[in-house]
Amino acid sequence: MDSVDPDFEGRVLVVANRVPISIKTTQEGEFEYSMSSGGLVSGLKGLAKAIDFKWFGWPGIDVHRNDKDKVRRHLQDNFNAVPIFLSETLAEMHYNGFSNSILWPLLHRMPDQAGSDERWSKAYQEVNEIFADNIVPYVEDNDMIWVHDYHLLLLPGILRERLSKKKNLKIGFFLHTPFPTEDYFTILPFREQICRSLLLCDVVGFHTNQYAKDFLESARIVLKGVSKSPSDLHWNRRKVIVHGFPLGIEADEWKQKLETDAVKQELANLREEFDDQKIILGVDRLDYIKGIPQKLRAYDRFLTDHPEWVGKVVMIQLAIPTREDVDAYRRLREEVELLVGRINGKHATFKHTPIHYLHRSVKPEQLCALYAVSDVCIISSIRDGLNLVSYEYAACQEERKGVLMMSTYAGAIKTLPPSSVILLNPWDAPRFAERINQALNMGIEERAKRHKEMMHVVDTWTSVKWGKAFLQTMMKMEIPKD
Ligand code: ADP
Ligand code: F6P
Repeated sequence: MDSVDPDFEGRVLVVANRVPISIKTTQEGEFEYSMSSGGLVSGLKGLAKAIDFKWFGWPGIDVHRNDKDKVRRHLQDNFNAVPIFLSETLAEMHYNGFSNSILWPLLHRMPDQAGSDERWSKAYQEVNEIFADNIVPYVEDNDMIWVHDYHLLLLPGILRERLSKKKNLKIGFFLHTPFPTEDYFTILPFREQICRSLLLCDVVGFHTNQYAKDFLESARIVLKGVSKSPSDLHWNRRKVIVHGFPLGIEADEWKQKLETDAVKQELANLREEFDDQKIILGVDRLDYIKGIPQKLRAYDRFLTDHPEWVGKVVMIQLAIPTREDVDAYRRLREEVELLVGRINGKHATFKHTPIHYLHRSVKPEQLCALYAVSDVCIISSIRDGLNLVSYEYAACQEERKGVLMMSTYAGAIKTLPPSSVILLNPWDAPRFAERINQALNMGIEERAKRHKEMMHVVDTWTSVKWGKAFLQTMMKMEIPKD
């Protein structure tokens, strides 16, 4: 294991809403463990291979009193993780309620998707307190606590207060979503508390410097005394660093996975199945921020405007189930499934189905093979913190040099060179359709040039670099160079 820095003597404690594994109970009452999906888990799992840290989080289920030790042992032994147990009602109001029905839509500037219930705010505060109750007994002098994501915005402030006696304790926070402009942020309940809590950190990180700026702008509006200069920012007589730290992936691991027999077998199956057809791939959690209906409409328009492609191209859209108890997500599923049915009905022939829609989570080797076999990957998010799928696709395209189509509304647009991708506006279906045509017709030389440019970033900005850059900034309290 690497250390964060040769001079660092403490331990790293990572706190996120989720631990890397999610637990479900089978009909027989047994526990079923499965990898949690999403950018946060992918990034932290990558970092865990290089740096030793303890990971605190909710196990995703209300565990009966008698089973808690079993779950604790499983998480400790396999993941160096500590479960924080929540009752079903509290978790429901914190996760489905405040976090995913108020914070998530507002952080993505979509107040129309928000719900409301007064009990959610109380539950949110309570869960942040419960996390603190569970973490405080572990903390020692010189430790670095790194809190992640919007489910725990109040936690840094609570920890700072409760741990004020600890020597040289560092607290950091990283947000895995965009940060909105102040007109959206100021809609939020307890916005002052959120800003105060984050400014009690040593380092506050975002995927992009623009989100960092937007946070500071909001903090200045809701709190008095937040200085104008981000390079010399103090709050409560303590220095705070607020900066962009884009997450990355371990590209080499994806490349190695491609060489395994399991992936080779999956690839062979896919090649046989889609012989002679170009493949357009979409991999998204079934979330309204991902712009899946916009992608489907553009594909419909493309097939209508370019009938020469009908029968020669197929779209494979993975829609990974997510937050299924939230109304907005149920409505989205209905909309997407209606559109898939309609478009398939319109363009299908007896031999050919234009969209293969899979509403499920696939195995890692299947995902890897899908990335490698596709000619085009479309990211059509209407807002997205960063988007790791785009990086993973590039990493698996050493051979084919497939084309990445990227929405201008995803954070990754700030990290990947614009000339390496085909930019798209998800709201402009006719042009989006033309871009699909451009991607499918692009020659190998141009594809290879773009792929090389992309990989320059993807190979360099790994999740290990991201984690180390953040932790070293916490340690040294120096503003990182851009
Ligand atoms: P988000 O965090 O919004 O879901 P990202 O594109 O940043 O979006 O990250 C999605 C991550 O989820 C990727 O790293 C992808 O590999 C991962 N993923 C996709 N499908 C699965 C799955 N079935 N199991 C585990 N992780 C998955
Ligand atoms: O990208 C934001 C995020 O909340 C990540 O933190 C997480 O990886 C992903 O969405 C999945 O969300 P959930 O934990 O609700 O399944």
